[in-house]
Amino acid sequence: MSETVTAATEAETFSFPQPRTCPYRPPAGYSALRANGPLAEVTLYDGNTAWLVTRHADARRLLTDPRVSSERASDGFPIITPRLLGARWFRTLVTMDGEEHSMYRRMLIPDFTAKRTKAMQPDVERIVDDCVDRLLAATPPVDLIQDFASELSSRVIFHLLGVPTEDQATFQERSVRLLRAADSEEAEGPLSELVAYMDQLVSSRGSGTGTWLLDRLSGEEVAKGELDRGDLIRMAVQLLVTGQGTTAQMIALGMATLLEHPDQLASVRADPDTVPAAVDELLRYLTIADMAGLRVVTEDIEFHGRVIPAGSGLILPYALLNHDPETYAEPDRFDVRREPRQHFAFGFGPHNCLAQGLARMELEVTFRALLRRVPSLRLEKPLKELRVREAADMQGVYELPVTW
Ligand code: HEM
Repeated sequence: MSETVTAATEAETFSFPQPRTCPYRPPAGYSALRANGPLAEVTLYDGNTAWLVTRHADARRLLTDPRVSSERASDGFPIITPRLLGARWFRTLVTMDGEEHSMYRRMLIPDFTAKRTKAMQPDVERIVDDCVDRLLAATPPVDLIQDFASELSSRVIFHLLGVPTEDQATFQERSVRLLRAADSEEAEGPLSELVAYMDQLVSSRGSGTGTWLLDRLSGEEVAKGELDRGDLIRMAVQLLVTGQGTTAQMIALGMATLLEHPDQLASVRADPDTVPAAVDELLRYLTIADMAGLRVVTEDIEFHGRVIPAGSGLILPYALLNHDPETYAEPDRFDVRREPRQHFAFGFGPHNCLAQGLARMELEVTFRALLRRVPSLRLEKPLKELRVREAADMQGVYELPVTW
């Protein structure tokens, strides 16, 4: 008979999230959590507990299990920071399950197919070249996040959505304020300004004849009555919020990691065809969206002879899983020749990152351009001296001063 997991059956409990001390390595506390696996009990900031999964193979199984839900408003969903409390009401693709989730995801898929991503590549190359021109025109040192990566990643999303060039500066200013908001109260102002702007954009350009996401969806889905106009706008804001910060941080931290590993950098420089493999290894090694694997169990689940009861919070820490020594040899070594198959940097299962093809292409184009056009790029300070983002946030740094 399976034993139901309760606090009494576990030897030790840990707090979650675990503090980070290094900008690019998983928290040191993950080793103890792994040692207490395959299911470790953790205590959250609000005193609630959740179950944390430590093995790669188990996580793949659970992330595709229909008894594992992404519904944030459900009782038991692990809230890892007070910042997420306010976001509970904001229903988006990542917080939906089943048919509702599939319906919205299906509507977005045409903008993220391999064919569409390939067609976008020349536009992304143009945006990247323009951002490198601006970087080179600045006087070093500059902050690679604010002065390069943030603008670049926003412009790619504006392009995807179909925000006209003349409106992009206003849009950028509002999205920066939204992305920097410390809590839901501070986010309210820029969020409603962005929603109002998008509403106006959909009214003026929503003919359904354009290539871009907002035009296409307002023509195809809103016109047919399949999609509410408010939902369309919410989806667009979500793409901006989920896609901008992640890609910007990956560009900055990815470049910094390459610069801190000169032998690896030299091998990528020597053979630019290795850039896609290097991007995959950077995605695995850094796993900036470590905190994205939060779920709640809706029915009892048998797990290694025990039962995880319905209503339990479940945590699949993507960085811990991407450093599982049973799956990756010497997981803490950065090796651009590794070919890190089936990593969790983009999640796994029904919620896997919709834009991973686009994100990969954008990273490849950006690293190629920086290596070729700014060959003397270097860090102004060692990465280890920079302030690390708080534990519940994405892996990364707040600023990355560089020079050349
Ligand atoms: C390197 C950059 C990126 C990383 C590391 C990343 C990571 C992730 C991860 C880990 C998830 C899964 C969340 C979960 O398990 O619940 C996810 C989902 C998602 N991402 Fe990304 N992402 C990136 C870029 C983007 C971009 C550029 C966009 C949009 C333009 C985007 C849009 C989305 C959406 C819409 C989802 C939700 C999919 C669903 O729930 O069905 N991401 N992303």
